[in-house]
Amino acid sequence: MAFQRSVSVNILTIAGCVTIAYYIRTWFPAGQIEKSILEYPKESLVNFTQYAIKYRYIAEEHTIVTDDGYILSVFRIQNKKCEGRTHQPPVMLMHGLTQSSDTFLDAGPNAGLAYLLADACYDIWVGNQRGNYYARRHVILDPDKDPTFWNFSFDEMGYYDVPAMIDYVLDHTGYKKLNYIGYSQGDAVFIIMCSERPDYCSKVHGHISLSPASRLMNTKSLYMRSVCITVSKLETLLAGFGINEVFSIGAFMQILIEIICKCETITEPIAGTLISGVLDAYHTGSITSETLHRMSSHFPSGTSLHNLAHYGQTMQNDRFQKFDYGETRNLIKYGSKEPPTYNISLVTPPTVLLYSRNDNLVDKEDLDWFIDKLPNLLEIEEIADPMFNHLDIVYSQYGKELVFPFVCRNLQRFSVPKNESRWV
Ligand SMILES: *[C@@H]1O[C@H](CO)[C@@H](O)[C@H](O)[C@H]1NC(C)=O
Ligand SMILES: *[C@@H]1O[C@H](CO)[C@@H](O)[C@H](O)[C@H]1NC(C)=O
Ligand SMILES: *[C@@H]1O[C@H](CO)[C@@H](O)[C@H](O)[C@H]1NC(C)=O
Ligand SMILES: *[C@@H]1O[C@H](CO)[C@@H](O)[C@H](O)[C@H]1NC(C)=O
Repeated sequence: MAFQRSVSVNILTIAGCVTIAYYIRTWFPAGQIEKSILEYPKESLVNFTQYAIKYRYIAEEHTIVTDDGYILSVFRIQNKKCEGRTHQPPVMLMHGLTQSSDTFLDAGPNAGLAYLLADACYDIWVGNQRGNYYARRHVILDPDKDPTFWNFSFDEMGYYDVPAMIDYVLDHTGYKKLNYIGYSQGDAVFIIMCSERPDYCSKVHGHISLSPASRLMNTKSLYMRSVCITVSKLETLLAGFGINEVFSIGAFMQILIEIICKCETITEPIAGTLISGVLDAYHTGSITSETLHRMSSHFPSGTSLHNLAHYGQTMQNDRFQKFDYGETRNLIKYGSKEPPTYNISLVTPPTVLLYSRNDNLVDKEDLDWFIDKLPNLLEIEEIADPMFNHLDIVYSQYGKELVFPFVCRNLQRFSVPKNESRWV
């Protein structure tokens, strides 16, 4: 296919750029680029709790340790006016690739999903998956010194992180089940959990799937395709150069976004359009400059090289499967030459799904493949605006009109008011 050929030509160019970018990064002591070029003091980062409190929400910070020793921060947000009368049961909200819990606040109080759901009196728990800046800790491993820390992909996030967060929230609140909202990778990890640990899947009452990532064979974003496929081909080489962590705060991509944001000549709506256009698809004016400024210190928020490599494989494969180590190592690890596929028919909780047409990351063809295998799909909706893209689901200023009503209506269907007898 012509498309694939153009991708492989691009791979070399992008591979060069990515590698050079990382080299440039290592020439400077940590924080030097930020200080000298951008005057971007790391400590000025406002975290989830601070943002929520700034807008007068109640926020709590919780620390969770997974079975394999990763330490994750999870945040809880509630609206003051709902104190003591939030709907039951609690709701878990999960971010996408190289994002964090902050993603659901970045669009601001009138568009950010975490704020809007708190306003609707839901008890919202916003998770973080290993490797981002809220989940860059381990009981033994040092992320700055031990490459083993970074030896994970979305597979481990689904196997360890989501179950650990679910257990914690249920323990803390006293419920037997919760509702789950997953966006992109945040939903891929849910699918993986259901496939690999069905006992955890049964702890979820209702499942709201927002542009879920599963099979990604038809991903159109040239940027994401090139980067992920390159990484999947050069993982060993790049890891040999000591590159284990990618897209972190202060790394190439994030500084680029900072520069675009700070550059006076590139103003709204061009800056937002440019960034979403490169990563995803153009949608002029959807992301405000205020959102972009918040994003610029939160996105991308870091993941492992190995995770991108797994994405790269997923983009070249018509299956949604575990990491492919090559025939010999697969035989040792999985007992088969081919990696096992994730079993989507085990995603048994009642599911509703929202997607957008102008999504260059999760393509409709892959989505249809996924939907076809879902055993308990109650409802599927395409966002009314045909220009709405993948990033818009969380960052668009129109989230309140185009994303929130679907989520809220379905959460209502999966919940009961506080004054009713305790929901189990
Ligand atoms: C968030 O900021 C508050 C106030 O500075 C601090 O106490 C807390 O430890 C921070 N949390 C995280 C996860 O960075
Ligand atoms: C990463 O994990 C794989 C599979 O679990 C293992 O074979 C490999 O040795 C690990 N690599 C490192 C650097 O820990
Ligand atoms: C997937 O799970 C279903 C339901 O438990 C089972 O019937 C089916 O055999 C599984 N498929 C695979 C490929 O393991
Ligand atoms: C709970 O409150 C709603 C309105 O807030 C009311 O309609 C309903 O009857 C109440 N249920 C019980 C069990 O009190």
